[in-house]
Amino acid sequence: MPISATLAINQLTAAKVAAGRDVLPLGFGEAGLPVHPELVAALASAAPSGAYGPVAGLPALREAAAGYWRRRRLPTEVGQVVAGPGSKPLLYAVLRASPGAVALPRPSWVSYAAQARLLDRAVHHVPTPEGQGGVPDPDLLDAAASAARRDGHPIGSVVLTLPDNPTGTLAGAEVVRAVCEVARRHDLLVVSDEIYRDLVHDPATPFLSPSEVLPDRTVVTTGLSKSLALGGWRIGVARMPVGPLGERLAAEVASIASEVWSSPANPVQQAAAWAFTEPVVLTARIEASRLLHAAVAGAVADRFERAGAKVHRPTAAFYLYPDFTPYADLLADRWSVRAGADLAHVLLERFDVATLPGSAFGEPPERLTLRIATSMLYGEGDQRETALESVDPVRLPWIAARLDQLEAALGGLLDR
Ligand SMILES: Cc1ncc(COP(=O)(O)O)c(C=O)c1O
Repeated sequence: MPISATLAINQLTAAKVAAGRDVLPLGFGEAGLPVHPELVAALASAAPSGAYGPVAGLPALREAAAGYWRRRRLPTEVGQVVAGPGSKPLLYAVLRASPGAVALPRPSWVSYAAQARLLDRAVHHVPTPEGQGGVPDPDLLDAAASAARRDGHPIGSVVLTLPDNPTGTLAGAEVVRAVCEVARRHDLLVVSDEIYRDLVHDPATPFLSPSEVLPDRTVVTTGLSKSLALGGWRIGVARMPVGPLGERLAAEVASIASEVWSSPANPVQQAAAWAFTEPVVLTARIEASRLLHAAVAGAVADRFERAGAKVHRPTAAFYLYPDFTPYADLLADRWSVRAGADLAHVLLERFDVATLPGSAFGEPPERLTLRIATSMLYGEGDQRETALESVDPVRLPWIAARLDQLEAALGGLLDR
């Protein structure tokens, strides 16, 4: 099995930069922001804690995570919360603990399908409704679940990403409700990956978690990797369903955890416990990040739109998903591009622009889509603090220069 596409593009980009190339880093989905100093202090003061601690996480962290969800209309008992070293291994453990084939939106985050493959599970990629990434089209999910059952290999779970990576969009309440109805009818576990929930650009946007609709069959996962840029700290939490299914899943995930990672890093848990209480200094930081992500993702979307690619405006996180189908003939004639991976390759090798093709997200190879991550454009060191504080970050010289570099590259690619 190859290394995860997102981590691979990061390494390739780093190697090209080390070789002296000025690569525009639109491939890797890291939050691209410094750790808040008060979090650094919280971690430092917890550093003497060398004990493993309980498998499911420290009580203070589990209680704080329960409080985080309660403030989001999700009543949560501490026993429903399991912490892990990132939400990624928790997702893996949840899939491992729930039998059957896995239904995924198409496109969807790279690791769901890879994890299902590691578990020898069949994957059903179900296209999303237009402009509403992260959820399978309800009617198509219904058809896929019926067909899988007829074939004797029923689908056991469906994963949703709310809001979505790779498209930077959020599915509306109506479609979430319709997917939940299909999940109920076909007895599916719903896994709702809500790691970008606090990065919806307009916080007034209505957000419906499937766990509000199907509390007894929905697992919710989240973490601090994106909202507080703590990906390297490796901390995530899962909220198990209420009732017997949830109790069984919590026990199974804990037993997997006990044999694979024992417990999340103790000092990180202590700092995360504080973060999940949502102190004002950290909510202010998330607010500033959200504004920055919105401004830069919007400006990047403008460049793709102006170049003539099809793109849904990003409304969350720091991603967008342009489609170059309108240029299929030109790209084939001029660059021999016949697949999304060819397009990403030409952009990297000819124009020093790192992206990921839609095929890394479960799309058919011939689709000319790219996943663009905009969060590495904020600069280096102090520039990132300045970007966070700026009222008009796209006018900061180092960000404006990156936007110009993108515009020039797209111009060269499309011969304009
Ligand atoms: C949709 C989605 N889920 C989960 C993760 C992983 O998060 P964590 O750092 O909590 O393992 C990512 C990170 O890229 C992601 O994009």
